[in-house]
Amino acid sequence: MSDPKKLFIKTYGCQMNVYDSERMAEAMGAEGYVTTEVQEEADMVLLNTCHIREKASEKLYSDLGRLRALKLEKPNLKVGVAGCVAQAEGAEILRRSSVVDLVVGPQAYHRLPQMVAAGGRLVDTDFPVEDKFSVLPARKVTRGPAAFLTVQEGCDKFCAFCVVPYTRGAEVSRPVARLLDEARGLVAQGVREITLLGQNVNAYHGEGPDGAWGLARLVRELALVEGLERLRYTTSHPNDMEDDLIAAHGDLPQLMPYLHLPVQSGSDRILKAMNRKHTADAYLRLVDRIRAARPDILLSSDFIVGFPGETDADFAATMDLIRTVGFGMAFSFKYSARPGTPAAEKDPVPAEVADARLQELQSLVTAQQRAAQEAMVGREVSVLYEKPGRLPGQMVGKSDHLHAVHVQDEAGRIGQLVRVRVSGSSSNSLAAVPVSAAH
Ligand code: 5AD
Ligand code: SF4
Repeated sequence: MSDPKKLFIKTYGCQMNVYDSERMAEAMGAEGYVTTEVQEEADMVLLNTCHIREKASEKLYSDLGRLRALKLEKPNLKVGVAGCVAQAEGAEILRRSSVVDLVVGPQAYHRLPQMVAAGGRLVDTDFPVEDKFSVLPARKVTRGPAAFLTVQEGCDKFCAFCVVPYTRGAEVSRPVARLLDEARGLVAQGVREITLLGQNVNAYHGEGPDGAWGLARLVRELALVEGLERLRYTTSHPNDMEDDLIAAHGDLPQLMPYLHLPVQSGSDRILKAMNRKHTADAYLRLVDRIRAARPDILLSSDFIVGFPGETDADFAATMDLIRTVGFGMAFSFKYSARPGTPAAEKDPVPAEVADARLQELQSLVTAQQRAAQEAMVGREVSVLYEKPGRLPGQMVGKSDHLHAVHVQDEAGRIGQLVRVRVSGSSSNSLAAVPVSAAH
């Protein structure tokens, strides 16, 4: 028998791409491919791309440039481009880069094995009628006790800056029964924590046994799965935070006290221009309701600075909102004009103004992040061990609040959920020691 062929996948962008990359690896696994971490030894290289900002898109072409040498050395090397750049640019990628053999969009990647078998240079950016998840082989857990599970894809919100409604298409929710099956399968393979993924995850409305279910019902049902200790979900839109989901944060111990709830801006004028369909005040009231249900919840958000038309006063309103909420974590970006989106037609804010605002915003949220971490020192928290640390006798995992924690634990095992006491806080993680050997 010949050696199995090797597949190298590079994943850019969001957690859904991480999930998709795993599913593509499984699809190619069924064709005899094994994954490798070493690009040079690959028979096939798959770049799972992100289109959200210009910089993310550009990475594809610089990586393809670097692959040229490898392809010269290994003429049979197959190069595939998947993900949102594949969806947005399609055949243009084949024209721009001669090393590329296959271009496959996020809704068509279950057809990857057929494309590879067919040979030649092919593009598939369809939104097929068949559900890719029902065609793909069953999940194989390779990444430890915390797994992603895509429950919803696409977006109908059409924020003026965002390519997602175009690259991922309209909102589609997976049926409840399939998700329960997938979750149970993951748990049977040792998974203890599942993060439900969707571009608009809290707009989930999948088919249940008695009509459409919202995310709250799905989460409540998943909480009944024996052995599933922790649930999270991301990313949510403020307008889709239904009452029962907020209530679930108060009464479901499995639902972790961390919520990524992007607001993008604190200025009503800019929120309107962004087509976010809510005000800053509505967001603040929502935060109050969430905190009433779960007082220790840690909130995180995305921010865009330098959106077309953003004035100093608009930016000041964003900074005020950040001070009012106090985020445990935040991701901030300079506005990037994306082809085909409404905002791309408008005059940009000067780059140096946007740069200065980004710096100012980032120093505020970094200070808030640090404060949230330091507030954990001395407290007892739970950590799910995901891997050994770099130092001997050390385990690394996430706390309920999604802080990375390094635990001094000689006997620690991957997949254990351990009570620890936080002893220190550094820039990106906490240090801790176990409080009991009971687990
Ligand atoms: N420019 C800058 N940031 C963007 N995001 C989405 N589109 C753009 C854009 N055109 C940010 C938003 C979103 C996150 C995933 O990426 O903040 O929440
Ligand atoms: Fe993009 Fe807005 Fe949809 Fe989020 S809600 S994916 S930012 S269009």
